[in-house]
Amino acid sequence: MAVTAVPLSAGLRQRLSAIRPEEGVIPAFIFSDPEVYRAEMDTIFARCWLFVAHESEVPAPGDYVTRAMGEHPVIVARGEDGRIRVMLNVCRHRGMRICRADLGNASHFRCPYHGFTYTNTGDLIGIPYQREIYGEAIDRSRFGLIQARTDSYAGLVFATWDADAPPLREYLGPMTWYLDLLAGRAAMEVVGPPHRHEMAANWKLPAENFASDAYHTLHTHASTAEIGLTPSPRWAKDGYHVQAGNGHGVMVGTPAPRFIFAEALLPTFARHLRPEQLALLRTLANMPGTVFPNFSFLISAVSFKGRFVSHTGLYQWQPLGPERIEVFSWFLVERDAPPEWKALSREAFIFTFGPSGVFSQDDSENWTNITRNSRGPLARHLSFLYEMGKGARPTRAFPGPGEVYEGKYSEVNARAFYRRWLDLVQGDGPWT
Ligand code: FES
Ligand SMILES: [Fe+2]
Repeated sequence: MAVTAVPLSAGLRQRLSAIRPEEGVIPAFIFSDPEVYRAEMDTIFARCWLFVAHESEVPAPGDYVTRAMGEHPVIVARGEDGRIRVMLNVCRHRGMRICRADLGNASHFRCPYHGFTYTNTGDLIGIPYQREIYGEAIDRSRFGLIQARTDSYAGLVFATWDADAPPLREYLGPMTWYLDLLAGRAAMEVVGPPHRHEMAANWKLPAENFASDAYHTLHTHASTAEIGLTPSPRWAKDGYHVQAGNGHGVMVGTPAPRFIFAEALLPTFARHLRPEQLALLRTLANMPGTVFPNFSFLISAVSFKGRFVSHTGLYQWQPLGPERIEVFSWFLVERDAPPEWKALSREAFIFTFGPSGVFSQDDSENWTNITRNSRGPLARHLSFLYEMGKGARPTRAFPGPGEVYEGKYSEVNARAFYRRWLDLVQGDGPWT
């Protein structure tokens, strides 16, 4: 569908001119300004490919989950033809939310207001007393649910409202190589519905953190070393920053003290990955990243219950306003992992990165505070320091694609994230 943005006000344009990503200058106001938020909805969330679900959440025909793209509610449903569609969860009659459940299986959705009925592929097939009320005058085919462009990569389902957006694979670019490690290393599944909780934070703060901020682990998460979860406060220092284009960023932590996945799955990994990907997986210590704008992921490993075990999580930072998000987090695991490894990995995930996890709690304290401190008269003149790793040169001594920088304590990915963000908000040719 054609997406048009409301032009930015002169005042906002002037405020945006203070942002200089390459110099490492990011003003505070962008984390709470309502006008910035409205522009983001128009220029980013209505245009970019957004993560909506993992394919394993809707394995059978008729399965559906309800999600949001930006602030618009959507239904993600698998039709009888096996295809996954993403449709605006808004009735074409008067705008009521059609499906009010979080998940289920249905061949049809009936609007609670006047009873219009749609198939799970979005066709309007029933209008109560249609002939009596409308006569022959109404053409139902004109009033199907609004459909988003939908595609998936490595089981990750994305959708966009923008007919002009490039194909998903092109949008993801070099990120696909890393998504293979994350979600394509074996047949994967998410366990249960996502955990959901709200946080008084701007969506960009966690997105930026997962793309770029390994430095905070040294201090924010130092206590995890004290209780023996991590080997030392510096455990997340070694590795690489990878700028994967379009604002995407991933940090590859390597080497690992030992293999962090289930040994029994090595032959499976070898079948699913290219040799150079497998070689990296063998020495992987951790891997956080963000697919621009608001889908993050993390492979992490901790000492837990006397074992060293990794877990894989997917995170959606769903904007609910300039200063509020709903966090969705999914535990992703190899479908054929040994059951006891799966159970231990899931427990480690919940203990560390679930809604009340020891890492999540510390992170959310930072993000909610920064959001609060980004408003008010003084904050209008405050800029933050994003200069770490400025002047660093990319390295070629790495097997994966993208622009790669050595060392995980860096802010190169954050600068790339905000460059992309600024270009989109300013409407400077989003898909060139
Ligand atoms: S609003 Fe849905 S049937 Fe009227
Ligand atoms: Fe953190």
